[in-house]
Amino acid sequence: MTLILGIETSCDETAASVVLDGREILSNVVASQIKLHAEYGGIFPELASRAHIEAIFPVVAEALSQAHKTLSDMDALAVTNGPGLAGSLVVGVNAAKGLALGTNLPILGINHLEGHIYSLWLSSPEYRFVPGKSQTSEEPVPIQFPVVVLIVSGGHTELLLMSDHGMYQRLGGTIDDAAGEAFDKVGRLLGLPYPGGPSIQTAAQTGSSTAFEFPRVWLRGNHGEENYDFSFSGLKTAVLRTLQGLSPEYQPDDALPDSVSIPDMAASFQAAVVEVLVGKTVRAAAEFRAEEIWIAGGVSANMALRSSMIESASCPVRVPPLFLCTDNAAMIAAAGHFRFLAGQRDTLEFDVRPSWPLA
Ligand code: KG4
Ligand code: ZN
Repeated sequence: MTLILGIETSCDETAASVVLDGREILSNVVASQIKLHAEYGGIFPELASRAHIEAIFPVVAEALSQAHKTLSDMDALAVTNGPGLAGSLVVGVNAAKGLALGTNLPILGINHLEGHIYSLWLSSPEYRFVPGKSQTSEEPVPIQFPVVVLIVSGGHTELLLMSDHGMYQRLGGTIDDAAGEAFDKVGRLLGLPYPGGPSIQTAAQTGSSTAFEFPRVWLRGNHGEENYDFSFSGLKTAVLRTLQGLSPEYQPDDALPDSVSIPDMAASFQAAVVEVLVGKTVRAAAEFRAEEIWIAGGVSANMALRSSMIESASCPVRVPPLFLCTDNAAMIAAAGHFRFLAGQRDTLEFDVRPSWPLA
């Protein structure tokens, strides 16, 4: 039995969580800064680190109290030390180091992307979808490797082959905007509230996904073969050009002309993103004979992405529960559990790594 206190401050959520054995969430406290940044239509790094400083110790105290535990009950501290905003990461890392110094607890630096992957460990059987079977609550199915993992968040779009705990091969990723970034930028073009992902999903519900023909970018390697990289910046430009086609005077941040159907735009854009994400992930799963497909990160909350992946895959698909898709510390504690079992212990000298590829 291991009890891990996870701490996460890589972006705009200050989070702490206590997790038992990498699976059972005893507490999961997230102080979101969305309201603070909404005014700017994106994340303002200086404001983010100041808000983390104010929130970190109350959030940690709340996580321990909700779990009915004290620091002395913990086996280790797991903290995100990258990738992310340097000024935000340093707040969580320094807080964790202070706690480690005061308690002598082992401390482990965790990669945020690995955290997103381990959000899948915290989910129960109903989040595993088997092709051709209707969803019934089955017994937990032990995880079999290899697994193809699609991480889609505000800062990342990564397609990975995971062959065991902590073992990753990068198959591809975005060469420009991340999937969540594309949602956020197009949300802004459409005058929808920040963050764009959930706003676009809601607007798309009453729209037609075939109203506009937005490009699907199937990138190819040097020999003409389709690869596993993604590009979403052209899609954002296509949305802008379409808006300008409907109203030649239109500029970003102008009020949208009445002739524009926001639901149709949102649904057509969402369909273009989803088709490419699903197409490449399913192809990778077949090529590498994956036992399962996992999706993780903020964009994995998207219902169109989830249902299309589940429909298109010929292997089981696992998705995180909605509350674990966006940033949280339970996933960091879960990743910390496996790293702790594997023997990882960091000295107090470890630093933040704002750019830290997982593979
Ligand atoms: O994982 P996350 O909380 O933070 C990063 O590590 O980046 O992801 C945040 C991203 C934002 O871009 C947000 O717009 C997107 O996830 N997102 C969604 C949805 N919910 C959040 N995108 C599409 N559909 C959603 N339902
Ligand atoms: Zn994240």
